[in-house]
Amino acid sequence: MKRFPIPIPAAVPLYLAPMAGVSESPFRRLCRRFGADVVVTEFLSAEGIRRENQATISKLRFGPDERPIGVQIFGSEPAAMGEAAAFVTDVFAPEFIDINFGCPVKKVVKRNGGSGCLKDLNLVEDVIRAVSRATSLPVTCKIRSGWNEEMRDPVTIALRCQDAGARALALHARTRTQMYTGSARWEEIAAVTQALDIPVLGNGDIRTPQDAVRMWRETGCDGIMIARGSFGQPWIFDQTHDLLEGRPMRPEPSVEERFAIALEHAHMASDYEPDRPGAAIEFRKHLGWYVKGLPASAELRKKLYAVTSLGEVEGIFAEYLEQRDRYAERGERAGSDSGEPESLESAAA
Ligand SMILES: Cc1cc2nc3c(=O)[nH]c(=O)nc-3n(C[C@H](O)[C@H](O)[C@H](O)COP(=O)(O)O)c2cc1C
Repeated sequence: MKRFPIPIPAAVPLYLAPMAGVSESPFRRLCRRFGADVVVTEFLSAEGIRRENQATISKLRFGPDERPIGVQIFGSEPAAMGEAAAFVTDVFAPEFIDINFGCPVKKVVKRNGGSGCLKDLNLVEDVIRAVSRATSLPVTCKIRSGWNEEMRDPVTIALRCQDAGARALALHARTRTQMYTGSARWEEIAAVTQALDIPVLGNGDIRTPQDAVRMWRETGCDGIMIARGSFGQPWIFDQTHDLLEGRPMRPEPSVEERFAIALEHAHMASDYEPDRPGAAIEFRKHLGWYVKGLPASAELRKKLYAVTSLGEVEGIFAEYLEQRDRYAERGERAGSDSGEPESLESAAA
């Protein structure tokens, strides 16, 4: 058994992946409550932290109920990365610092940040060593399988990370040039898990609890990191734990429960950023995810995407439930202009 650098009670720890604009404090809190064992902040620029840029620093805030938490930083200047790590350690004291070697976004890679570092493994090592020297906290890494197909070599990259002092490693088994296309190659997760002495988190293409179990069985990974599969369904972590630990999987929440969770998330978001203009607009994506797959959800989504304040959401949900109940009372099938086949009644079941 490999040892994680922080105490985690689960045999197969489940991580909420770092996701810009999604893995923010309110969503992290919710995912922790629904069974995520560890959460990671979205990636934050080392330069922004070092210069104490207010927008960056504000994203470093987290609550005690989010722990254990890692703060993810990116940058290609070892000294700046070290300074940022020292600042985060002193001021915010998370459980670990995670280094992003996976971000494929042009703005980041053109300065060799994120997956840009993967073109130069000496730089990867220098960054990890500088960060490890600057903090007393464990340092972990998140990598892709390589920069492009020619340079695809996840085992070598991962071994270099381990040699430089990484204490755990998450692999998103795609190259940078793949962005999000094609499939993650889970066999690479298996190979990296085999090759490393430190724990390896498998990442890529987990949409359901069953996918997570399949990844674990097929790769033997030490832990699992879930990103897009958590959208609108933070309970995926509890359900995955059920399956991994041999219990019957708890059912999906009912529509009412789903709405209550979405509303709680919305309240948490407005408490966290009470004065931020555009907070409701940014939250619309979560609302869309929460109602995905519900009968007549196209109409519902249209209304949710038009909200300008989170206060409007409760009324929209109540109206949807009322309409559904009216249809159910009359024993009618609900009209759906979305072309979705299910009836509103079946959603209530
Ligand atoms: C909206 C979004 C934002 C992301 N932001 C980050 C980030 O800040 N740091 C990072 O390491 N990866 C980031 N990723 C990549 C994910 O952590 C993950 O590696 C990728 O989505 C594959 O996992 P999945 O198939 O479970 O979604 C982001 C992904 C998405 C969809």
